[in-house]
Amino acid sequence: MQQSLSSHTFNTMNILILGSGGREHAFAWKIAQSPFCKQLYIAPGNPGTADCGINVPIAVTQFEELKAFCLQHSIDLVLVGPEDPLVLGIYDFFQQEALQHIHLVGPSAAGAQLEGSKGFAKEFMQKMKIPTAAYRAFSSADYEEGIAYLQQHALPVVLKADGLAAGKGVVIAASREDALAAFKEMILDRKFGNAGDKVVIEEFLTGIECSVFILTDGQNYQLLPSAKDYKRIGEGDTGLNTGGMGAISPVPFADPVFMQKVEERIIKPTLLGLQQEKIIYKGFIFIGLIKVNNEPFVIEYNCRMGDPETEVVMPRIENDLLPLLASLKMQTLHDHPCVQSTLHYATVMLVSKGYPEAYEKGTQITETAVAGRSLLFHAGTVLHDGKLLTNGGRVMAISSAGDSLAEALTVANQNAATIQFEGKYFRKDIGWEFE
Ligand code: AMP
Ligand code: GLY
Repeated sequence: MQQSLSSHTFNTMNILILGSGGREHAFAWKIAQSPFCKQLYIAPGNPGTADCGINVPIAVTQFEELKAFCLQHSIDLVLVGPEDPLVLGIYDFFQQEALQHIHLVGPSAAGAQLEGSKGFAKEFMQKMKIPTAAYRAFSSADYEEGIAYLQQHALPVVLKADGLAAGKGVVIAASREDALAAFKEMILDRKFGNAGDKVVIEEFLTGIECSVFILTDGQNYQLLPSAKDYKRIGEGDTGLNTGGMGAISPVPFADPVFMQKVEERIIKPTLLGLQQEKIIYKGFIFIGLIKVNNEPFVIEYNCRMGDPETEVVMPRIENDLLPLLASLKMQTLHDHPCVQSTLHYATVMLVSKGYPEAYEKGTQITETAVAGRSLLFHAGTVLHDGKLLTNGGRVMAISSAGDSLAEALTVANQNAATIQFEGKYFRKDIGWEFE
């Protein structure tokens, strides 16, 4: 089947999504609705994605196995969910002759450095004059210099391991002792292994955070709905950091005036910088921002979509996502605007007792019905002998719509209370600062 859309024509496609979390279930839910989707596969997927397509038991970093699968099943487009395969160079791997006809959505390894190396990202922002916290980077060779820098730095101070550290590589030290101890742990004791070969020490910024997402073909970009996630485990933003306990979209303060600043000062210089460095980037950029006195500063870049942000962003995209993704290869994204819904969405994450520290797996989930304008996205679940069991810290996300943020939050919370498994925990105060 061939359908015409805008000035371009796409064939129907066989699609492979890589990943197994709530983000990938939200992608699968969205893509399965497209008339351009012939067959959808998810590797490795979860019981939720199995309702949208076919799960394939291949891990996201098994490049050779993924290659064989793509060739065998005539895959046309691969959408990469998590950062690991991108930082490991899956885009570059797919440039080999046998795979060149397959369109992989995601940056090259060089582009993925925006997330894979905090030192690279800071240097890039400094060069492009993109607003971000003042910083210096140190390695073990200049350990003493780093200590001296920390001795005179204002408090609190932020230390970041350069490489990927499963979301644990950032320390906000309130005292000099804590700062020095964290620096030693990262550089000398190698707490995060090679990820701590270099450490970024930066100024602590005070403000409210939000996330802005773009899809880019390297030349053009489309803004996706903004979102705010809630990283701490405890209500009132207290306790340990997690992968994310909930999210809302849109973000009340990301209004047109603020977004104009973000586009002019951050998004456009980011794309210009990538072009100047001749870095191939055809995928998502997730820009973690902090608003300081109404001005946006970049906290971090990620080379992928966020989780649980995708669970509120996908339901707010009104048009078909596949033409946008398919347009990246030929750099015709300017022909495919992203149409954002006026509805509000809130997602609440249900997690296992103990998360983000040690938690139990294998608990039966006995009630999964959702009511109202709501979607249930699986994250850490598994089917065993016909029973749905917990299989991770973050178990499921409930995304609910409302004509107002308050309505979306109320419905999401009601559903979160209904779903049943032993040890279930969720934050009841997602979106609290806007109520
Ligand atoms: P990251 O892993 O880079 O997302 O950092 C984790 C969290 O640390 C961020 O979401 C912020 O809440 C916080 N953070 C990172 N850098 C800074 C900074 N320079 N000032 C204040 N908070 C920060
Ligand atoms: N929710 C934050 C992230 O995906 O990195």
